[in-house]
Amino acid sequence: MGVVVVTGVPGVGKSTVMAGASEAGYGIVNFGDVMFEIAQAEGVPNRDQMRRLPVADQQRLQRLAGEKIAAIGNVVVDTHTSILTSRGYLPGLPEWTLRAMAPAIIVLVEATPTEITSRRAKDATRQRDADDVALHQEVNRAFAATGAVMIGATVAIIENHDGEVDDAVAQFRSLLA
Ligand code: AP5
Repeated sequence: MGVVVVTGVPGVGKSTVMAGASEAGYGIVNFGDVMFEIAQAEGVPNRDQMRRLPVADQQRLQRLAGEKIAAIGNVVVDTHTSILTSRGYLPGLPEWTLRAMAPAIIVLVEATPTEITSRRAKDATRQRDADDVALHQEVNRAFAATGAVMIGATVAIIENHDGEVDDAVAQFRSLLA
């Protein structure tokens, strides 16, 4: 199938849901890891500082990461349809990244704002921003739809509710079948 992109607000559980990918014969790459490898070499101290960089720097890192991932081939990409920056929502999949990666499916993993806030609170290793989770999920839907129309990808929404992770993983696996 080529590239499948999996997105969702921080802490929604997208990495958890895509764990089924390797059993379906897909490699997994985290877009943020690839961006951070490049950013770290330029002196950025941790991944949570990336969304606080000037937007032009984030876009440059994004472009480089997209080009690197596009060269991999068949892969599931853990990333974002939007990133909340000090200047508003930055598209995680701008035209140049989408056209380079040409995903067949843009997956949105969603949960309720209460579930997401509680999952974030349990992870003390991260520096999460306080944000409006419901609004961020709405923005993600809008950005995913826009990107899909540009390249003809499908958009799939997976609900990942508390205690229902097996069901969410099964939904994701069925997309890859
Ligand atoms: P990224 O690496 O994606 O990190 P993140 O957004 O902080 O997301 P996480 O990995 O922390 O959360 P997750 O949603 O995967 O949740 P998880 O499965 O761990 O991005 C890092 C940075 O890279 C971004 O901030 C940005 O700067 C940059 N970046 C990335 N892509 C970009 C792009 N395209 N353009 C520009 N910049 C980009 O689960 C969370 C917790 O919930 C876990 O404890 C888990 O056990 C629990 N959980 C999950 N599901 C359930 C369930 N059903 N029930 C109960 N608990 C559950």
